[in-house]
Amino acid sequence: MPARLLILFAHPGLQKSRVHRVLMNAAAALAGVTFHDLCERYPDFYIDVKAEQALLLEHDAIIFQHPFYWYSAPAIVKEWQDQVLQYGFAYGQGGTALRGKITLSVLSTGGSEESYRADTADHFTVRRLLAPFEQTARHCGMDYLAPCVFHGADGLDDAGLAAIVNEYVRLITALRDGTLNRAAARNCERLNADLSRIISNGAAA
Ligand SMILES: Cc1cc2nc3c(=O)[nH]c(=O)nc-3n(C[C@H](O)[C@H](O)[C@H](O)COP(=O)(O)O)c2cc1C
Repeated sequence: MPARLLILFAHPGLQKSRVHRVLMNAAAALAGVTFHDLCERYPDFYIDVKAEQALLLEHDAIIFQHPFYWYSAPAIVKEWQDQVLQYGFAYGQGGTALRGKITLSVLSTGGSEESYRADTADHFTVRRLLAPFEQTARHCGMDYLAPCVFHGADGLDDAGLAAIVNEYVRLITALRDGTLNRAAARNCERLNADLSRIISNGAAA
C-alpha cells in the first residue's frame, strides 16, 4: 500500500515565490499526495483544530513545506503546532494519534549550503536549527527524518529550478512508495544531498 502523504504548506509571500511555486505545481501532479496550503486556508490564523486533526489521522506521513524564515518556519506553522498538537491527541495520556507517522521538513533557504556550517555566516546546519521540530516529533512518537533543503533558493536559474523539482519529485515519490531507506534518512544532515544513497529499490526499513 502506498503511504498517504500530507504536505502542510506555508508561504506568506507566495505571489513572489519561484521555488515553492514550481514545487507546488509538481506536488499537485502526484497521486497519493494531499497538498494543504495553510496560508490560503487560514488567512486570519484561526485554525480549525478538529479539521486539522482529522487530516492528520488520514495520512501516514506529515511534511512541513515552507521557505526558511528567520532560521525557522513562517508564523502560521507555529500557530498550527500550538493549536493542533493537543494533549490527549498528539501526546500525554491517550495522545497516540501521531505515533509511528513519518515527519520531515521540505525547505528552501536564501543562504547557500556553505553558509550553513559552524565556521560560516549562519553557524548551524539547517538540521540543527530545526531541533524544535525534531524534538516535537519525538515527543509525539513520530518518525523524524532529516530535512530536504534547497539552498541558495533566491539565485536559482531555470536549470536550477528544474533540478530541484526533480529531487523533490524523487523524494516525495520514494516516501509514498516506501522506497526510502528510513535508517539512512533519519541519520543524514539533508535528505537531498545524496538521494541515490537514501532511495533504494526495496521496501523502507
Ligand atoms: C521574512 C523572511 C525571512 C527569511 N529568513 C531567512 C533565513 O533565516 N535564512 C535564509 O537562508 N533565508 C531566509 N529568507 C529567504 C527565503 O528563505 C527565500 O527567499 C525563500 O526560501 C525562496 O523561496 P521562494 O522562491 O519560494 O519564495 C527569508 C525571507 C523572508 C521574506
